Amino acid sequence: MATRLGLPNLGLGLGLRSQHFEHILKKNPAVDWFEVISENFMDSHGRPRHILHQIAERYPVVMHGVSLSIGSTDPLNLDYLKSLKQLAAEVQPVWISDHLCWTGVLTTNSHDLLPLPLNDESLKHVCNRINQVQDYLERPLIVENPSTYAAFNNSTLPEWEFLRIMTEETGCGLLLDVNNVYVSSFNNDFDPVEYIKGIPHDKIVQMHLAGHQNCGNYIIDTHDREVNSQVWKLFQLAYQLANEASVLLEWDGNIPSFDIYHSELLKSKQYMDETFIGVDNEVRFMDKEQVSNPLNLFEMNKFI
Ligand SMILES: [Fe+2]
Repeated sequence: MATRLGLPNLGLGLGLRSQHFEHILKKNPAVDWFEVISENFMDSHGRPRHILHQIAERYPVVMHGVSLSIGSTDPLNLDYLKSLKQLAAEVQPVWISDHLCWTGVLTTNSHDLLPLPLNDESLKHVCNRINQVQDYLERPLIVENPSTYAAFNNSTLPEWEFLRIMTEETGCGLLLDVNNVYVSSFNNDFDPVEYIKGIPHDKIVQMHLAGHQNCGNYIIDTHDREVNSQVWKLFQLAYQLANEASVLLEWDGNIPSFDIYHSELLKSKQYMDETFIGVDNEVRFMDKEQVSNPLNLFEMNKFI
């Protein structure tokens, strides 16, 4: 039985994007909840924050951060945490999330979600910092698995095992980004199904879905298109295992009209009830120009 830290299932949600402010305020669309990027509102006391207050009066809202830098060796940024807590006091989010990553060091912010080596030392470091953050915010932190494009030689734990111990040690929750699992598995050559089966399902508070770009021998987590069919299949499995987790579709580039964005989210319903039948690996390291006959194609597929 999923406990999800006592947090509610909010249903199907969308990321709040400024392009859709007017539509939402005028039309009150039938979306279950919205996720906001915390940093887009923390330092703004003008129109965006005023609009956020109006939306938070009508819909459940969750705050999703990109700059906590929980894995960095810099001290935690207390000014950032103060501003985050202030926004939370105003908006009353159902929960607050950020990523298992580091975004900078020596006070420089790379504005990127950078991967960590996954070993006992980094696990202890991250757990200490999550505990500090949770003490300060006076609520559990919900931590998201990042998309990764590289792995470290000194990693000794698979990411799903790292996440499991992290939740046990700190009591934090998980935001399972199914697209990120798929992207990372393709780029770093692990089995996404093993990952989904290996994480602690009762700690999954929320899931993310998003589109990505397959560049042939690597995948970029672009959030600029519809969800890939293999990610939908993986979502089927994840949703079955993480019973009653809230679901959110991210879309950050080439943002479509609100109605198109919403209709892509609603596709998730058809996958929630279907039985998982497996994920096909996308073709990797294949340049069609270099494949001269069907035999080569067959031979390559055997090894993918
Ligand atoms: Fe995500």
